Amino acid sequence: MALLKILHYPDPRLHTVAKPVEAVTDKIRQLASDMAETMYAAPGIGLAATQVDRHIRMLVADISEEKNNLLALINPRILMKEGEIVHEEGCLSVPGIYDKVTRAEHIRVQATNLAGETFDLEANGLLAVCIQHEIDHLNGKVFVEYLSRLKQSRIKNKLTKQSREAM
Ligand code: NI
Repeated sequence: MALLKILHYPDPRLHTVAKPVEAVTDKIRQLASDMAETMYAAPGIGLAATQVDRHIRMLVADISEEKNNLLALINPRILMKEGEIVHEEGCLSVPGIYDKVTRAEHIRVQATNLAGETFDLEANGLLAVCIQHEIDHLNGKVFVEYLSRLKQSRIKNKLTKQSREAM
């Protein structure tokens, strides 16, 4: 097990479009396990491979209070979206920034699990928001891109200044 380094916005690598996973190998399972450990340690409720600079279509999520309901989605595809929910989102790649984003309230997703099997998942509310947020990462999109240009440039300046101060 290992903690992975999380890329911070506005790192251009966060805009990489991830490639499909061709086979679920031990290497993929190891990465999922390291991603889960990194997500729990942060702490966060979701993490996409993009955020740890691995540009393959895989994400982990766990919205349970007890942190005992880990989901790993490989090559996730949204089959259905319904309704609307406004949720105040945050992101491990955008530390300290929270803002409201509108997304679908119900989704149905098809994905592959760590055993290499295809499954369908229905998600509502927070889990639906989380999965949509993480799939956006796999498409190279960070949640701040839903905000106004003014807010985006303020966030960019703030985080760039923070990372310079940290060096
Ligand atoms: Ni995020």
